[in-house]
Amino acid sequence: MSSFQITIDGRPVPVEQGQTIGAALHAAGVRAWRTTRFGGRPRGLFCGIGVCFDCLVTVNGRPPERACLLEARPGDEVTTA
Ligand code: FES
Repeated sequence: MSSFQITIDGRPVPVEQGQTIGAALHAAGVRAWRTTRFGGRPRGLFCGIGVCFDCLVTVNGRPPERACLLEARPGDEVTTA
């Protein structure tokens, strides 16, 4: 299994081939990367299967996507809001 790196808000995160961005962040100890619009409560992986939309991230400047469904690619730049 090969590995590579992505960045989250400029910080390097290791990724194993085939991992989703959500799995890579979880494996790196990142448990929350956004907050709720009302109340500012932390959110990250919750369902892990694409249902709850808690895990939204911006990747390479595209509109927000679900990190739990999105396979990481070498050099992906993930930004959180
Ligand atoms: S964790 Fe629920 S949609 Fe990604």
